[in-house]
Amino acid sequence: MWSENDIPISPVSISDMVRLVEKRDKVKVIRFDVAEPYFPPPEKALESTCKAVLEGYNRYSPTKGLVELREGLKNFLEETRSVSYSIDEIIVTPGSKFSSYCVFASLLKPGDEVLLLTPFWSSFKAIPMLLGIKRIKEVLTDPLYKVNEERFQNAITKRTKLVVLNTPNNPTGGILDKSDLKFIVDLAAEKGFYILSDEVDWAYTYDGHVHYSPAALSNGFERTIITDSFSKVFCMTGWRVGFAAGPRNIIDKMNVIQQHTVTAPVTFAQKACLDILLEYKEYVKTVVSSALRKRNMVVEGLKSITRLESTPPPGAFYIFPRDRFMVNSETLAVELLNKAHVAVAPGTIFGEGSEHNFRICYAIPDEDLKEGGERLRVFFESAST
Ligand SMILES: Cc1ncc(COP(=O)(O)O)c(C=O)c1O
Repeated sequence: MWSENDIPISPVSISDMVRLVEKRDKVKVIRFDVAEPYFPPPEKALESTCKAVLEGYNRYSPTKGLVELREGLKNFLEETRSVSYSIDEIIVTPGSKFSSYCVFASLLKPGDEVLLLTPFWSSFKAIPMLLGIKRIKEVLTDPLYKVNEERFQNAITKRTKLVVLNTPNNPTGGILDKSDLKFIVDLAAEKGFYILSDEVDWAYTYDGHVHYSPAALSNGFERTIITDSFSKVFCMTGWRVGFAAGPRNIIDKMNVIQQHTVTAPVTFAQKACLDILLEYKEYVKTVVSSALRKRNMVVEGLKSITRLESTPPPGAFYIFPRDRFMVNSETLAVELLNKAHVAVAPGTIFGEGSEHNFRICYAIPDEDLKEGGERLRVFFESAST
């Protein structure tokens, strides 16, 4: 049995510390820690949610999610990922975090091994730990989440059951290109492991980079479970609607877990998600171009802090600078919060090899971005002298 101190912290828990510091110092903390785009959700989502409540979308939906929404998601996945699923191969869950939980719980038994490409989103380690899985292996990627083929291949064993990919990646903003994915998918077919492909930030790609799903590659479809969400690309974190698509037998198992835990996602929230899928392309374009502008602002701002090293990330809405001096990123995060009133996520929660890094989420208002950048500059300047 685990104790809560064994489980890696989730970045969402940093909010409690921020509240304490804001109360103590009577100052607004700049929140680079939250993995939540601040952009407003589509107008239609607001109207549709209210309308759906009044129209009677107030009872349990089918446990796999509203049939109409799964039909909408089938088209959406064809358009955005070039993969074709039947609606029985799609399940809607309360957020993609719960989709991930159900994938781990459906596939793994004690003794199985999970491989995480490092740096990884901390829940990918926490969830199998909560399920009592002991063999969780971290495979370090090269900078910006580039797969190191030799390291990856050496990490695969007979016990490897699941490999977790997250492209675009939280926390680095790196993207797996087609050749990375092809290498992994071919090994999956040869060795018989599954791939959990977290694609929640699929639209956030810049500088000509493109998002590919491993499910779209030959050999990939049968071995991949995609998880995705309305949280990040549609900025609807509070609706708690995510989904997964994959082989029917796995999706059916996930459905059993859903039936015995949360029953189904919120029905009127699902109706709003269905309505926005009817017309989403312009909205997504606007959000992504705003994110790109902010990425450029943050990249420019960080250039003036010589202690920090970073490369412009090609995707997501994070940057993961490395501090040349600091030994421990947790100490750095605590100091930044207490002294500079800036909240960041320390690198240590994203796995081995990131002890000198910290994560900045730059999808925040411009004025906060500027103020936070200035506080960081002053902090590092005074800490270096
Ligand atoms: C990579 C990644 N996957 C999944 C999630 C969870 O999103 P959801 O709101 O859909 O549960 C997050 C949220 O931070 C994330 O960063």
